[in-house]
This record gives sequence, structure tokens and C-alpha cells, in this order.
Amino acid sequence: MALKPVNVGLLGLGTVGGGTINVLRRNAEEIARRAGRGIRVSKAVARDHHKLRSFSMEGIALIEDPFAIVNDPEIEIVCELIGGIDPAREIVLTAIRNGKHVVTANKALIALHGNEIFEAARRKGVIVAFEAAVAGGIPIIKAVREGLAGNRIQTVAGIINGTCNYILSEMREQGSDFRSALSSAQRLGYAEADAAIDVEGVDAAHKLTILASIAFGIPLQFDKVYREGITQISPVDIHYAEELGYRIKSLGIARNAPGGIELRVHPTLIPERHLIASVEGIMNAVLVIGDAIGPTLYYGAGAGAEPTASAVVADLVDVVRAMTADPENRVPHLAFQPHAISDISVKSMDDVETAYYLRLYAVDRPGVLANITAILGQQDISIEAIIQKEPDHGARHVPVIFLTQRIRERNMVEAISKIEALDAVDGKVFRIRVETLA
Ligand code: NDP
Ligand code: HSE
Repeated sequence: MALKPVNVGLLGLGTVGGGTINVLRRNAEEIARRAGRGIRVSKAVARDHHKLRSFSMEGIALIEDPFAIVNDPEIEIVCELIGGIDPAREIVLTAIRNGKHVVTANKALIALHGNEIFEAARRKGVIVAFEAAVAGGIPIIKAVREGLAGNRIQTVAGIINGTCNYILSEMREQGSDFRSALSSAQRLGYAEADAAIDVEGVDAAHKLTILASIAFGIPLQFDKVYREGITQISPVDIHYAEELGYRIKSLGIARNAPGGIELRVHPTLIPERHLIASVEGIMNAVLVIGDAIGPTLYYGAGAGAEPTASAVVADLVDVVRAMTADPENRVPHLAFQPHAISDISVKSMDDVETAYYLRLYAVDRPGVLANITAILGQQDISIEAIIQKEPDHGARHVPVIFLTQRIRERNMVEAISKIEALDAVDGKVFRIRVETLA
């Protein structure tokens, strides 16, 4: 006898909620064949009950109170697609207390409160699935947590915020300005409700927190991620980077390095021949390097309604398949058994080594470049390339670009402050880190 469809309570009918309804409906038969039962959204919650939705709500009861869904005995899986922390955290914890499985796309919630949420879920024997929280539709959580379980993972690095990648691509390919590229990402439903979370690197830091935890078996520790956004990246830097054979990408980098784990999100120059350099627009790409497999690369849409719904629905199928299994024998939420999570220290950014791109404006007279290179030399910084450009019409200062070899951040910070103090140098030295991702 066929089993009854599983009832899902859907919280949030925005970009991802709408995509999830569409995918569940369109692929209902395929999904049931995979899950062993149908999966249907029986109840949903949104703030505005008068909003025109671009999808059909047929068969779905729209209700006001999110807690009415998580307290409803007929709902077996709660799908949280509201976003943010409040009331999402309380909704998820209440669902768990009520013995319901949870699927969420909420990276902020997992990065900031995941330790508490997974502990509550473990005690209650329920699943909290979060594939859509990282890299949109790319099944990167599953790949790292299960597919690469035999490896000691060394590096996870990549483009994990679609909005930033979209903006940088629009600036480089179309010559768009930052504001109009951001507006377009917002219109297309890629950006967070507060887009500062994207462009300041917070969203990527949330995702990196999650990736690092499942890659290295460490607790979720968002506060340890070093973070810089893309708001200071200008068209001239994009252009100079291209001249030097590089692209500027906002990368999340987690590396199990000597002396501790590196956790950082920042704009980065990467060689244009690297596969990740050609990842454009809303696409994401994550490089995972394991000791057994070597480098692996995962590519796909990092945001948007149906790509993200693809990950949400995969989680729903996973939960339906696993809900009758013994909780002790399920894949651990954070890949490692909870008692085996180890608190390896996270490196201070001062101790991280990278190469650098520097752009500064200096008076064009003999001896100035020599003074700058002397300061770099005092800090053990070797120069890979120098370009001096023509001055802008009538300007006294000329743009000078340096590419350096790898050096500790501490030395570079010291060198930059000395260079900025030179009379012949105008204003701040602009710095972007350089990675080969080798
Ligand atoms: P939207 O802003 O498009 O949708 C949010 C939905 O939640 C809306 O339907 C809104 O109602 C509803 N909502 C918000 N607050 C409440 C509340 N207090 N009570 C009831 N309903 C509420 O967000 P997205 O769909 O873009 O994002 C949802 C989640 O998915 C977020 O965690 C986001 O980070 C994540 N995510 C988003 C991706 C994307 O591409 N957009 C990709 C991957 C993850 P109403 O419609 O009435 O305003
Ligand atoms: N705002 C996010 C992004 C959505 O642009 O990547 C996907 O997580």
C-alpha cells in the first residue's frame, strides 16, 4: 500500500519559497519515486497575505502565525525559508522541541546558532538539513560531508556569494557601476533582504563558517572569520588586474594550515587561467582539496529561486528517506560525530600569508619608487611586478601598481603604513590579496 504523502509546513513564500513550491509541484512524480512517498506543502506562512504570488497556492493553506505550523501535529517537516535570526531561530527550536525535522536555507541562522540548533536536534533525534544554505543549488554540503568523508581536507575556497560575483562580473564585462549592478542583483532575487550582508562579505562569512566546520570538524565560529567586502573595488583595479593577467573575485577561503586554520573572506586577485576566474555572474564555484582526492571543483548557480529550491527539495527527499532510520545511524549534521568535534585554533589574520596587489599614487620624480621598494625590502617583501601608469590629465601623482610575493599580513600592514607616511605618496595605499589557489 502506498504511503501517505509527507506534510511539509513552508515558512516563507519569497524567492526560495516560491521556487520550492514550483519544483515540488512540477517534479512531484520524480520526487515521490526517489523519496518513496509524495512530498506536499500543506500549509504555508508569509507576512503579506494580499501579495500577488507568481506561483499557484492551490492546495496550500496560507496561515498567519508561523508557530501554528511548528505546533501543528500534522506537519512532519518544517521548511524555514523566512531568513534572518528572529523569529527564525525560535521557530526552528520550537519545531525541534516538537519532534519535527527541519529543512532551512538560512546560513545566518546556521552559522550563528547552528551549534545550539544541532545539539537540540541531536537530543530530540530529528534532522536539520541545510544544503541550500551554502552555494545555492550546488550540493556542496553533501559532497564534503559524505563524498569526501575519506579525506583529510586541506582547503575549501571559492566564490560563495552570487551577488558579489554578479556585481564584479557586471562591472568588468558591461562596465556597469557598482550601484546599478547591485540593484539588478536585487531585482533578480539574488541579494539578501539587507544587501549589505552580501556586499560586506557577511553572507560569504556565514557560508564559510559552515563549510569550515564540516570540512575540518571544528565548531561553527562565525566570529573568527576575517571579512572584507567588495564596496571599495573600483573599475581601475578590475582593469589593472586584467592587465596583469588576473581577475578580481570575492573569495571565501578556509585552509587547514600550519599554525591553525585560516578563515577569511575578501576580494582576491586570481590568475585568469584558473577555472574559478572564469566563473561569472550568479554562478558559484567551490574548490575542495583533500589529501586523497587532490583538488575537486564544484560549480553551479549560487542563488535564485529554482537553483536554491533544487537544494531545498533534495534535503526534503533526504529527510523523508532518513526519517524512519535510527537517529544514531544518520550522517552527523556537521559531518563529524558530535563528541569528535575538535577546537583547532583559528589563525589571526596578522599571521596569514598571501601575495598582494598594491595601488598607490606617487609623485613622478627620481628616487620615489626607490624609497617605496626600500620600505618593502625592509619588511622582507619581494616584488613580482611594478607598473607605473601615465598621470591623469594635469595630475601631479601617477598610479603605481605593485604585485608582491607571499608575505605575512603583519609585514604588509607595517610596510603600507610607512609608505603612506611618505611625502611623495598621496592618500591611502589600496591593497588586494592575491591567491594562486594552487
Ligand atoms: P525573501 O525575502 O524573498 O522571502 C522571505 C519570505 O519570508 C517572504 O515570503 C516573507 O513574507 C516571509 N517572511 C519574512 N518574515 C516573516 C515572518 N516574520 N513571518 C512570516 N513570514 C515571514 O527571501 P528569500 O526567499 O530570498 O530567502 C529566504 C532564505 O533563503 C534566507 O535565509 C536566504 O538567506 C536564503 N537563501 C536565499 C537565496 C536566494 O537566492 N534568494 C539562495 C540561498 C539561500 P512576504 O512575502 O509576505 O514578505
Ligand atoms: N544572497 C546570496 C548570494 C543568496 O547572493 O549568494 C544565496 O545564498
